[in-house]
Amino acid sequence: MRVLIIGASKGIGLETTRQALDAGHSVRALARSAAAIAISNPDLEKIRGDASKTEDVETALVGMDVVIQTLGVGLGELFRPVHLFSDATRVLIAAMRVHGVKRLICLTGFGAGNSRASISCAQRLPFQVVFGRVYGDKSLQEHLIQESATDWTIARPGVLTGGPRTGRYKILSDSSQWRNGIISRADVADFLVQQIEDRKYIRQAPVLVN
Ligand SMILES: NC(=O)c1ccc[n+]([C@@H]2O[C@H](COP(=O)([O-])OP(=O)(O)OC[C@H]3O[C@@H](n4cnc5c(N)ncnc54)[C@H](OP(=O)(O)O)[C@@H]3O)[C@@H](O)[C@H]2O)c1
Repeated sequence: MRVLIIGASKGIGLETTRQALDAGHSVRALARSAAAIAISNPDLEKIRGDASKTEDVETALVGMDVVIQTLGVGLGELFRPVHLFSDATRVLIAAMRVHGVKRLICLTGFGAGNSRASISCAQRLPFQVVFGRVYGDKSLQEHLIQESATDWTIARPGVLTGGPRTGRYKILSDSSQWRNGIISRADVADFLVQQIEDRKYIRQAPVLVN
């Protein structure tokens, strides 16, 4: 498949790029610092661009079958108003409509959208204080996706680690099972790459934890 990864230069996006190439897909990697991606592979195209700019996203979407969006903001932005996730998602959904691309796999996090109700009482206040702005915008992002005509899957990992890919993580699709936990970025990437061809979780937003 021809896969556009938005937010591909670091963290889960970079790991997803690596694993998608290993799985035999062609990857177009979009990020503001895409040129710094230290992978060379004939099936990888690095595109410098801003996910919230229509022109950049439309150019990147040409010829793609699937989009994986793995955006993140830095620690310094946690205590400022956050609009990146919703802004970039509005731009992306409109551009996907224009280009006739249907499949969207998006990374948010446990605590976004209706998974917020599953945060434990002890974690609720600290979560709101530290991540409230980011997760408020991620919730809006999820809403935009869920209202869109795309074939979407939203992945909501728990707390991320830099551990290895194990393939041994839980995919909790039923809200009665939702809980926080840890998971490596490499295992989150494993899930995202599987969704490129697997249609089992379309229109679902599972929580991912060990
Ligand atoms: N930390 C946790 O425990 C935890 C738990 C659950 C969910 N999450 C979420 O998981 C996500 C990924 O986290 P991560 O640590 O793996 O990634 P990360 O290191 O934060 O990487 C974020 C990516 O987004 C890109 N990006 C940011 N703004 C962009 C823009 N305007 N245009 C294009 N690309 C842009 C960055 O590239 P450039 O800077 O090069 O543009 C980078 O490739 C985040 O949304 C985070 O909130 C985190």
